[in-house]
Amino acid sequence: MTVHRAPDTTSPSTDADSAPGADGWDADSSASVPRDGLPSLPDAPAQHASADADAALAAELERLRRENLYRARRVLEGPQGVRPVIDGRGMLSFCSNDYLGLAAHPVLADALREGVARYGVGSGAAHLISGHSEAHRQLELDLADFTGRPRALLFSTGYMANLGVISALCARGEHVYADRLNHASLNDGARLAGARLKRYPHRDVAALERMSAGPGASMIITDGVFSMDGDIAPLPELARVAQAAGARLMVDDAHGLGVVGRAGRGTLDLLRMDDLQVPILVGTLGKAFGTFGAFVAGSEALIETLIQRARSYIYTTALPPAVAHATSAALALAVREEWRREHLHRLIARFRHGAAALDLPLMESHTPIQPLLAGDSLVALEWSLFLENNGVLVSAIRPPTVPKGAARLRITLSAAHHEQDIDRLLELLGRLPRRRGRVPRANGGPMT
Ligand SMILES: Cc1ncc(COP(=O)(O)O)c(C=O)c1O
Repeated sequence: MTVHRAPDTTSPSTDADSAPGADGWDADSSASVPRDGLPSLPDAPAQHASADADAALAAELERLRRENLYRARRVLEGPQGVRPVIDGRGMLSFCSNDYLGLAAHPVLADALREGVARYGVGSGAAHLISGHSEAHRQLELDLADFTGRPRALLFSTGYMANLGVISALCARGEHVYADRLNHASLNDGARLAGARLKRYPHRDVAALERMSAGPGASMIITDGVFSMDGDIAPLPELARVAQAAGARLMVDDAHGLGVVGRAGRGTLDLLRMDDLQVPILVGTLGKAFGTFGAFVAGSEALIETLIQRARSYIYTTALPPAVAHATSAALALAVREEWRREHLHRLIARFRHGAAALDLPLMESHTPIQPLLAGDSLVALEWSLFLENNGVLVSAIRPPTVPKGAARLRITLSAAHHEQDIDRLLELLGRLPRRRGRVPRANGGPMT
């Protein structure tokens, strides 16, 4: 069976470790620029070469289809939410990162309109040229206040924040230690820096301790809440190892901020960690906060260094100021409306309780990311298709986004769900097609 599915853009990469330059990024970066600086006109053989290249691409795409790894996009016909309309059909969705149900909230929409009236639509320039507006400045102050850190710096996306921070702070050849299930952007940042990326087994502090014992440790980087597993990094232990190794600990809390901790202040607040233990905090704004963009929070010196050196900050157009204005409103709403987190955590408990009663292979997670382990990619796709045929949208996540043999349904819950939505999902999960009468055990152990 070949089933086409939308990708999950929160994908971590499970690539193998890479040495500096292993991707060949630096080797021939100027190869296509002629000495006189003018582009050369394509000649006839070059056109043939491009037809050959297309044939090779088509063959590779065919292989992805054959192996059930081909991904296709869906078109939403209205706002993001738990009841999107897709291809003309109303669905019940459990696969966005809109954890607090803010993406289409009227307060944010009003703030966006107000921002457009005040600042127009585009920022028109990079932050360091003339694109840095009062709305950006205010949001940075709000984010610094929210995270309890001296400064915050806006980036256009979380992907760019991670590239920018790691490549600005790590020198070529320095050692960067990363959890194997980190988001792909953290690995890519280390590669862009030309650092030696060393990936330790998921949450395995003892392994990290052994690996980082030698000289040259520069940074330890980890998701706060892991995007595909929903579990939480052992931050106090990582901070201890970082201190012993003389390395900086950087936490990407894309899936924790807004959701866990007091007033949604994230995983660091949940675990009562301070900025000496975790000097670099990255957060994204397109998930729980419902808008778009990202930020880094830390010391005065850190933020000023990033402004001078982070290439993905310097060489790009600033986020539209109206989006920054709407995000300030989102942040205030997320802090103020504690009921969203309370309701969300009640839904998580209800879902886990129901899944345990059904003996489902749910992975160990107490965040809105509730992965159901299928093991085989085809099983995950069949499950996803079964749910879709019954009006429920949950994406199947397959390798290389997750390790081989760990394909899953990535179920995400939102404060916008009702209890009946959870019950409907559970009812369908109880009727999932089972292959050879076998359902994998989550984490190889008892199900919770
Ligand atoms: C842990 C993590 N970091 C960074 C990102 C990238 O953020 P953005 O979508 O803003 O680029 C994501 C998700 O997309 C993520 O899950």
